[in-house]
Amino acid sequence: MSDQSRRFPSDFVWGAATASYQHEGASNEDGRGESVWDRFCATPGKVRNGDSGAIACDFYHRYRDDIALMRELGIDAFRFSVAWPRILPNGRGAVNDKGLDFYDRLVDELLGSGIEPFVTLFHWDTPQVLEDAGGWPARATVDAYDEYVEAVAGRLGDRIKHWITHNEPWVVAWIGYGWGHHAPGRTSDADALATAHHLLLSHGRAVEILRALSPGSEVGITLNLDHPYAASDAPEDVAAARWVDGMHNRWFLDPLFRGEYPSDMLEAFQPTMPAIEDGDMRTIGAPIDFLGVNNYTSPLVGADANGGRSRFFHREDVDRTDMGWEVVPEGLHDMLVRVQRDYDPPAIYVTENGAAFADVRGHDGAVLDPERQAYLAEYIDAAGRAIDQGVALRGYFAWSLMDNFEWAWGYWKRFGIVYVDYATLERVPKGSFYWYRDFIESSRAQADEAAA
Ligand code: FCB
Repeated sequence: MSDQSRRFPSDFVWGAATASYQHEGASNEDGRGESVWDRFCATPGKVRNGDSGAIACDFYHRYRDDIALMRELGIDAFRFSVAWPRILPNGRGAVNDKGLDFYDRLVDELLGSGIEPFVTLFHWDTPQVLEDAGGWPARATVDAYDEYVEAVAGRLGDRIKHWITHNEPWVVAWIGYGWGHHAPGRTSDADALATAHHLLLSHGRAVEILRALSPGSEVGITLNLDHPYAASDAPEDVAAARWVDGMHNRWFLDPLFRGEYPSDMLEAFQPTMPAIEDGDMRTIGAPIDFLGVNNYTSPLVGADANGGRSRFFHREDVDRTDMGWEVVPEGLHDMLVRVQRDYDPPAIYVTENGAAFADVRGHDGAVLDPERQAYLAEYIDAAGRAIDQGVALRGYFAWSLMDNFEWAWGYWKRFGIVYVDYATLERVPKGSFYWYRDFIESSRAQADEAAA
């Protein structure tokens, strides 16, 4: 038995991921309402080049062709998100059936192709009307989210076996509401903390709804977890790394798996904390079936000589992607091992991992991306080594199936294993696509051989 077959059992889920606002386009069709990202993109100076998701990859119309590509790739599962403003364009009340119809067709096409849908309910495209009414810092948004989850689960609950309530609540809270680099562009620590709490609370409530309306399915949440390494053993550097770990990781992991916020962080945040009502923490800590982990890089953190809590250092000795993100596969391994050890989730999926590079088409029209291929190979190997350490890792999703709208970076950053020519919307599988296809095939063959 080779190493690889031991690491990745025959039922390991190989997948690729994307998200509604990033790939769908069709932003004005079939009754879709405005999302905070439509508004943010329309606000001058917020998104590079004035780009928006209005057309994106036009997945809304081309999903059948894209599913054909997925079949060629040989993936077991496709992770996508549902656009909330397609389902409840007014935030509350009337459900837009045409919006649900789209996901109905999509799910059936996937299942008919032998590809398991992993559905993310919220990947950042809040209906703008809800933002206007207070957004995530307002507790009423949790009630609105309940309605939305009921509508989606009521329609798709018979076929979906894997639900992800939220994608990266830290990013929404801090980058969207705390620092304003993402929609809705607010800049308030209090709003960030209230958002984080309400996202967690709405996750817990969604777990209850999904248990009732989609019996037998597995429910989880996806967090962006990166493993902060202390720049040295000096106590100030160790404390700085612990702060970053508290901000990014423990602030979400502790409530989800222990039903409480981490006390050291709570002490620091206390003056700006939102009201926590009786029962909130119990709702948030409801048992889940899996944890989704998104991981791209792992920071090197030290004390900040200027009095801040922490400072990120640049490593000189590692490769970087086009985002400037350092390639640290060991960080994925160490994070997975640590999460299993400290929180013991029943299962983990890597729901996103991948790299942006400045891809170009060659004279023959092909796109060769050896750096992305190397990145994926190294991170997948690190994930395999985590399984060797006893981590209950059940699947891996490459981000992304195709180039798409990369938030404030617009279309400038390409994460796909399929190249998208935005002028024509033509899809061109990159070298990494063929590498991943061959890797999945050989991994499966080895696992089957080992099992025989
Ligand atoms: C993650 C997001 C995803 C994508 C990647 C590059 O934070 O979940 O939508 O933008 O980063």
